[in-house]
Formats: sequence, structure tokens, C-alpha cells
Amino acid sequence: MSTTTPAKVTVITHPLVQHKLTLMRKKESSTNSFRRLLGELSTLMAYEITRDMPLQDLEIETPMEKMTGKVIDGKKQVLVSILRAGNGFLDGMLNVIPGARIGHIGLYRDPETLQPVEYYFKMPSEMQERDIIVVDPMLATGNSAVAAVERLKQLQPRSIKFVCLLAAPEGVATMQKMHPDVPIFTAAIDRELNDHGYIMPGLGDAGDRIFGTK
Ligand code: URA
Repeated sequence: MSTTTPAKVTVITHPLVQHKLTLMRKKESSTNSFRRLLGELSTLMAYEITRDMPLQDLEIETPMEKMTGKVIDGKKQVLVSILRAGNGFLDGMLNVIPGARIGHIGLYRDPETLQPVEYYFKMPSEMQERDIIVVDPMLATGNSAVAAVERLKQLQPRSIKFVCLLAAPEGVATMQKMHPDVPIFTAAIDRELNDHGYIMPGLGDAGDRIFGTK
């Protein structure tokens, strides 16, 4: 379903993911279809991202006999949305891991410096026992992702993964330099960032396209 580069970047190349991503990129895609496609993509991506989730034994009884099955502990998973565009990933991922807890980090990009400024941070309790999946559709400069992961590491979670829809090579390089221990999952790595920090060819402003604010 995927190819992994040595530096822990997984590009999810499944045809369904690539097809939906192309539809999302089209400038004429409506807010409605953009949002729906992002939901579908998040569910498909979650399948790949959770591939190594730990399993526990569970004694059950089928109509035929007793057996030991395997189950995940969904409550140990935390989806952390980088506001606001990260919220577009939540419902689709919750389809697959409905027991996951949700955290939010509010970071805005200073338009001058492109550096992140934190304005909101709310996480579930007992983060030391949890596996975090940070979600943000666009890994552009990487500054927000780096800041979010830095902040989350202070809580000493069991593990952290970073998930985006699109990445710029610059963002991937920044994340790998600052957090080489954090695997990145994306549906595509695009050509470059433009002078305004937008991914090219990209899909425009993900937040505006999800929420219809433009
Ligand atoms: N954020 C977006 O929404 N789009 C980009 O291309 C880069 C950052």
C-alpha cells in the first residue's frame, strides 16, 4: 500500500488516495466536495498509519467456542489537530479509531516571519501512556509541525507520528532535521514552496477550502 524512504517518510501511494487527492487539488472543487474527500482520504490514510498499532489479547466466545482474539486499545491513541485545518482530518480518522482521544494545538503563522505562535493547547490527561498522531493537511515550511511536536514531546508521550495530506520538500527536511524520530505520513511530496510559504502545485489554503472562508 505504500513505499517508505529511509528517512521515515511514508508516501501513501494507494490509487484511491491518489485519485481523491487529485480531485481535491482541482480549483473548481467545491467546499462540500473538498471536505468530503478529505474525510474519505483521512480514513484511508488512517488505515496505513495505524498499521503498527499494538494489539492485546482478548478472551472471547464465538457461537462455536472460546478463543483468544486480538484488539487494539483505541483509548491510548490521541489525534492532535493543529488548528484549524487539522480538524478536517478528525472525523475520517475517528471512523477507524473511534475510541481515540482528541487534542488541539492552536498555532498561527506570523505572516512576516512565517514562524508559529501558540494561542491554544488542550490535551487529554495521562499523555505519558498515549500514542500521538499529529494531523495537519499541509506540511509547508515545517515550522508549525516542528513547534507542535516540540510542545507535545514535553508531555513525554509513548510515541508521535505526523500526518499530512501534502508536504513540501522544505517541510519534510525541516521536520527530519528537528525531529528525526517522528515518522511522517503524506499522500504526496510536491515540488516546492513559493515565496509566501504555499506548497506548489499544492491545493491552495487548506483551511479556507475546508471551511469555505474564501
Ligand atoms: N498552508 C496551506 O493551507 N496551504 C499551503 O500551501 C501551505 C500552508
